[in-house]
Amino acid sequence: MSSKNILITGAAGFIGSHVARLFVNKYPEYNIFNFDLLTYAGNLENVKDIEAAGNYRFIKGDICDLETLRYVFKEYDITHVIHFAAESHVDRSIENPFVFIETNVMGTANLLQAAREHWDNEKDGHLFYHVSTDEVYGALGETGFFTEETKYDPHSPYSASKASSDHMVRAFGDTYGMPVMISNCSNNYGPFHFPEKLIPLFINNIIQKKSLPVYGDGLYTRDWLYVIDHGTAIDAAFHNGKIGETYNIGGFNEWKNIDLVKLLCSIMDRKLDRTQGESEQLITYIKDRPGHDRRYAIDASKINKELGWYPSVTFEEGLEKTIDWYLANSEWLERVTSGDYRKYYEEMYG
Ligand code: NAD
Ligand code: DAU
Repeated sequence: MSSKNILITGAAGFIGSHVARLFVNKYPEYNIFNFDLLTYAGNLENVKDIEAAGNYRFIKGDICDLETLRYVFKEYDITHVIHFAAESHVDRSIENPFVFIETNVMGTANLLQAAREHWDNEKDGHLFYHVSTDEVYGALGETGFFTEETKYDPHSPYSASKASSDHMVRAFGDTYGMPVMISNCSNNYGPFHFPEKLIPLFINNIIQKKSLPVYGDGLYTRDWLYVIDHGTAIDAAFHNGKIGETYNIGGFNEWKNIDLVKLLCSIMDRKLDRTQGESEQLITYIKDRPGHDRRYAIDASKINKELGWYPSVTFEEGLEKTIDWYLANSEWLERVTSGDYRKYYEEMYG
């Protein structure tokens, strides 16, 4: 297999760290460059186990800084990109949309431009793989699924910025013939997930016996995928997908928030030797998220049929593994929830 110099942006974050680990271990002939600004969401502890690997290197940098990107592409002769770096939390985008526009739109455009310049419009031996979200498709009612043909209809500043970045990637493909590929994935969960998102936030709050703030009526639906399975889907598309294509990735696993939270409470009560029902008492319904999308559900039949990908774990298995990881990694959890996190929590949840 030929060698590749792969720039993985945002690989100190949640999903990127899992994909960097997968590629470093599975493809020793590839050189993996983790390009990350280390914002509040980036943490080198997430990639500690691969930091000494001979085919891995961390580069601290900002995707909004075109000159640095130009230097990195040239210096390391980057042949492929897997682009994760982004501002990723919807609630933060409601508080401050501009950093989302800057990072997700301008940052992606910079990365495309640096790749285009370095690859000099040559297609062979190159790929710009863009990691996106199902939120670009908007919201579903009680029925139906998002397919690769669903019209874009983003509602939050986060999803609008991701939609814009997807358009920019396709525009570079159509206009300059850049070899691009996009995947749009549903909600991930698993180890190293920053505790601002529903599952890790609630795991942490249950451990601490703090209230569990459920937005609105709690009947919002999400399609959950174990993060390791997102990694295997990206691996399949990156290696065997068709240039210029889009692949939807999902868990075939829809849950209403309140049902998910009750399942989480029950598993945690068992693992923490608490009485069944104890953690459910912590559930508190609070003010809804503005513009809250009612339901997301991915039709992942294309990647299943064309590339043979399917999730490897059930939701119950994935949730157990995730909870076990958080219970075994209390120091990680304590470190990421100290300092600025306290201020964030106070501002968001009072
Ligand atoms: P995350 O917030 O955990 O990590 C983002 C990473 O990007 C961090 O390491 C951060 O330091 C880095 N970063 C931010 N701004 C940067 C900049 N200007 N320059 C360089 N690095 C920067 O995010 P995540 O949940 O791992 O999501 C990764 C990607 O996957 C995002 O593009 C997101 O839109 C997409 N996605 C996420 C989910 C999900 O459920 N988490 C689902 C589908 C798609
Ligand atoms: O669908 C993919 C997207 O999933 C990714 O693109 C985003 O990066 C990722 O953050 C996630 O977005 P969501 O908004 O769906 O995830 P979050 O964990 O923030 O919320 C999940 C659901 O839980 C949503 O309906 C809002 C609700 N929620 C969330 C929080 C943080 C609550 O009820 N209370 C909370 O405190």
